[in-house]
Amino acid sequence: VINLDSAAAAPIHPKSFEYFDEVKETYFNSSSLHHGGAQALELLNLSRDLFYSILNAKKTFDLVFTSSATESNNLVIQGLELKPGDEVLYYPGCHPSMVAPLNVLKANGILCIPYETKSGVITQSSFEHVSHKTKLILISHLNNQSGVLQDIEGLCRFIKSSSSAHIHIDASQSFTKHEIDLQKIQCDSLTLSSHKIGALRGVSTLFAKKHSIQPILLGGGHEGGLRSSTVNVQLIYVFAKLSEFLLSEITESFVQVESLNHYFRNQISDYAKFLFPKDTCSPYILTVAIDKLESQDLIKELSDNNIYVSSTSACSSNRPKDSVAFQSLGIDDKYFKNIIRFSLNSSMNQDDMKLACKTLNKILGPL
Ligand SMILES: Cc1ncc(COP(=O)(O)O)c(C=O)c1O
Repeated sequence: VINLDSAAAAPIHPKSFEYFDEVKETYFNSSSLHHGGAQALELLNLSRDLFYSILNAKKTFDLVFTSSATESNNLVIQGLELKPGDEVLYYPGCHPSMVAPLNVLKANGILCIPYETKSGVITQSSFEHVSHKTKLILISHLNNQSGVLQDIEGLCRFIKSSSSAHIHIDASQSFTKHEIDLQKIQCDSLTLSSHKIGALRGVSTLFAKKHSIQPILLGGGHEGGLRSSTVNVQLIYVFAKLSEFLLSEITESFVQVESLNHYFRNQISDYAKFLFPKDTCSPYILTVAIDKLESQDLIKELSDNNIYVSSTSACSSNRPKDSVAFQSLGIDDKYFKNIIRFSLNSSMNQDDMKLACKTLNKILGPL
């Protein structure tokens, strides 16, 4: 199988199994008082320290381990305990885990104001509605649908020059692909997700400025009271170790994926309309419209040939929410039913891309 859908689920990196093997006996509960519990706690502390180190995060941040990026994003949005009259700025083209929880806020009298972008790029003018009432600003570092990569360092600096609003960054898609340094980025919280990098699914991290959020899961008081639930110590270790490993190769991986992206773009340019300018996008995600077949049919044909891709719209007429997201990404309505997202990863090589192009040509036939 050629997985050109790694933004949905990256292939599990072989090292993930090696790291799991190292700790497979350390299944104990990190809260238990016996020696096994102490071992698990030691592993958890080691993993936590590793995350602080690779993100260059100061101890002004808490690091909360959760089960998914969805949970981390919800924890911030609900855990800030905003009050009626407070305002939130968000981008409707973000992942639903950043947009859907706003419905709860809206029902509680909090004003949620969408901000605009220029062809998916967030600019300073996106924040013209920032006021003293703005308490939360939501930004996705690498947009999972468009592939547009935001200058989060510059945007946070700009926002913080005139506002004390909490800035939350969803970096689920960008982590280990693009640099993230929490001493350079003036955000207040940041989400990462294990399965987007090829670690084992079921773990996510939320860095959040100390005392900024309240828990949404109550129980045994794990994670400093911020997230009750027995801590998934072994998978957290795998996530931390794989993150460290991938970051040690970040430049080589980027160069590799950039070259695959370049090759692929050239090969498909006769029939694919590139929906976002190349210089604003990460090479890891390429979103196009192919008008010869509706996306759902092309996905199926490719899948029958062992090539996996996605469209965020299985059928946009059946999923009006996707249409809203596409609209806010600035995509013309006429493309909605033909959008295909190719997402690349560094375990692929040029032969994979060649085969993908050959199969596309075979399915689409003569132009
Ligand atoms: C940008 C972004 N945020 C959040 C999520 C949700 O991730 P999870 O499946 O870990 O909840 C995704 C998954 O597609 C994503 O792409």
